[in-house]
Amino acid sequence: MYTRSIAVLLVCWVSFAAAELSHDLGPSLGKPAPTDFESVVAPDGTGLPAGEGSVTGGRTLYATHCVACHGSDGTQTGNSLAGGRGTLTSTRPLKTVGSYWPYATTLFDYVNRAMPYGNEKSLSENEVYAVTAYVLYLNDIIPADTRLTNHNLAAVVMPNRDGFRSSPDYQPAGRGGPHSE
Ligand code: HEC
Repeated sequence: MYTRSIAVLLVCWVSFAAAELSHDLGPSLGKPAPTDFESVVAPDGTGLPAGEGSVTGGRTLYATHCVACHGSDGTQTGNSLAGGRGTLTSTRPLKTVGSYWPYATTLFDYVNRAMPYGNEKSLSENEVYAVTAYVLYLNDIIPADTRLTNHNLAAVVMPNRDGFRSSPDYQPAGRGGPHSE
């Protein structure tokens, strides 16, 4: 008897939970589009919050918040942030921040939104500048005495900056792309 009521309750709960889920994941048709999107940092640095951080400060933060998953020098197998330079055209390309990513600003944006994994957005913006600096330092892209700010981050030239070709379809409007008027 008890088992039966529990089963009925369970079925009710599961269908309720499923209805809730499908409601959440639905297309939200007929509702105004949300206007409170987070700002997006563009390759040229547009959208970067004001702030600064140094390689030295980043070293300490990295040791506390990043080292467990990415390794002491950023080269943890399977989750590396550093190394791999010159491997992209080989049969075993290793894509890392240093070997693959075209813009340093994306590194800031990514860490700011998505790291430390499982504890996202726990670092202040200044702390994110500092770990960004440290990860770039681990990749030999900037020297140890560098202090990154919202003014100089976009000027950091990434090794694979010219390794990407943008599709003509992605030309922003007004720059002669096929969709511009
Ligand atoms: C608990 C483990 C964990 C911690 C701590 C962590 N990360 Fe990560 N990180 C990951 C995982 C897992 C991925 C891959 C995520 C994915 O591909 O969706 C990742 C991806 C990244 C990437 C993108 C790498 C690439 O080439 O795609 C960067 C950059 C990064 N982490 C930086 C950091 C920094 C900086 C910190 C410290 C502030 C940090 N992570 C802390 C687990 C972690």
